[in-house]
Amino acid sequence: MLILNLKNYEESTTTHLWKLLDSLNTLVEERPDFKEKLLIAPSMVFLLLAKERYPNLNFISQHVDDKEQGSTTGWTPAEVLVSNGINFSLINHSEHRVLPKNYVDELQSKGIKVIACCENLDEAEIFLKSKAWAIAYEPKDLIGSGVSVTNRSEDVKKFTKALKGKTKVIVGAGITKASDIKASIELGADGVLVASAFVKSQDPYSKGYELLNVFGEIDPEK
Ligand code: G3P
Repeated sequence: MLILNLKNYEESTTTHLWKLLDSLNTLVEERPDFKEKLLIAPSMVFLLLAKERYPNLNFISQHVDDKEQGSTTGWTPAEVLVSNGINFSLINHSEHRVLPKNYVDELQSKGIKVIACCENLDEAEIFLKSKAWAIAYEPKDLIGSGVSVTNRSEDVKKFTKALKGKTKVIVGAGITKASDIKASIELGADGVLVASAFVKSQDPYSKGYELLNVFGEIDPEK
């Protein structure tokens, strides 16, 4: 599984966003097997517009709050996402922390599958107790660095080993190329989170193909 977090980069919040999504849409048209392997988290400002424009792509939310639908100005309640067809969300990304508050149970009872981001195993254990749909390990200092998390192979192995079989295990930070994804899978990950390498690519079609094709080659179920 490839999760593309498009964040709020200039490249992903201007008309360039449509170039990124056109590329992914073409890839999924050409390779229908890519469709279920790809989750895309656009800027919240573009989430529903992107979903409407690209019905063949799977969009997820970058964040969701523990707030009710109603008088909750500026928050993103789970009910609002679910009633608009968004059924997955990242939570606790290093750039948008929620811990020590953990409201995964509440979110998942409302129909949102949660991909909980963690900076270490202690945090992961908290989300594991809540049966988060997936748990992602992202060391903060490597995010956007271009230095792949898989360079810290012992840390990654420790993480995947502790969670394997209990939830889906995702790793991210600094992943830029197919060999980083292959290394992640060899270290026990079910999927990866990638942002800057795709968003800032000069050729998003080729980069998207390179990243997605690893999952096509290794295991059609992932
Ligand atoms: O959520 C993914 C992200 O934090 C990783 O960023 O730019 O290192 O791929 P990047």
